[in-house]
Amino acid sequence: MIIAIDGPAASGKGTLSRRLADHLGLRHLDTGLTYRAVAAALLAKGLPLGDEAIAIEIAQNLDLAQMDKSVLSAHEIGEAASRIAVLGGLREELVNLQRRFAETPPGAVLDGRDIGTVVCPNASVKLFVTASAEARARRRTDEMISKGQDANYASVLDDLKRRDERDSQRTVAPMKQADDAVLLDTTEMDIETAFQAAVDIVSRAKDC
Ligand code: DC
Repeated sequence: MIIAIDGPAASGKGTLSRRLADHLGLRHLDTGLTYRAVAAALLAKGLPLGDEAIAIEIAQNLDLAQMDKSVLSAHEIGEAASRIAVLGGLREELVNLQRRFAETPPGAVLDGRDIGTVVCPNASVKLFVTASAEARARRRTDEMISKGQDANYASVLDDLKRRDERDSQRTVAPMKQADDAVLLDTTEMDIETAFQAAVDIVSRAKDC
C-alpha cells in the first residue's frame, strides 16, 4: 500500500504522514528532506545552488537513513531546497530514489509536493493537505516560539507565500493537487481532528 500526501509548506502534512504511517504499520518518507539534504550539502561546500551536475552527484550518493531532520529543518536550507527543486535532472534522480523507497514492501506513506502527480501516480490513496496561508504562518510562528527561536508572524507569512509561489509555478513537477486526490483543508482543524479525517479517508479508500 502506498499513500501519497502532498501540500504546501507548514500545512501539517508531515505530522499527519508520520502518524498515518505509524497507525498503518507502513514506512514513512518526508521527500522534502531529500531536497533539503542536497541543498545542505551544496551550501556546506559553498557551491552555487544552480550547479546541477554536482547536485545530481550528491543525490546519487544520498543515504536516506542518514538524513537528520533536526539539522535539515533550518529555514535557509528550506529556501535553498525550494530553489534547487526547479532542476529537472536533479528531480529525476530524487524521484527514482523516492520510488524505490515507496515500492519496497510493505509500502509507505510519502509526503511532498509531487507524490500523487509524479512520484507515485498509482498510489492507493492520495491526499492534498492544505490550510490558509495565515493559519499555516500562525502555526509555524507558534512552533518556532515554542522552540525558543525568534519568530515574526508577518515575515513568516511572507516567506510562506513566496515559497508557495515558487513551488507551484515551476515548470517541472509543480506542487498541484492530483485529479484523484482528496482535499483536506485543515484551516479550522487541530492536529487530532485532521488525523481522524485522514484515517477516515484512508479507510474509505481501502474499502473500495
Ligand atoms: O516540505 P519541505 O519544506 O521540507 O520542502 C522543501 C522544498 O523542497 C520545497 O519548498 C520544495 C521542494 N520539494 C519538492 O519540490 N518536491 C517534493 N516532493 C518535496 C519537496
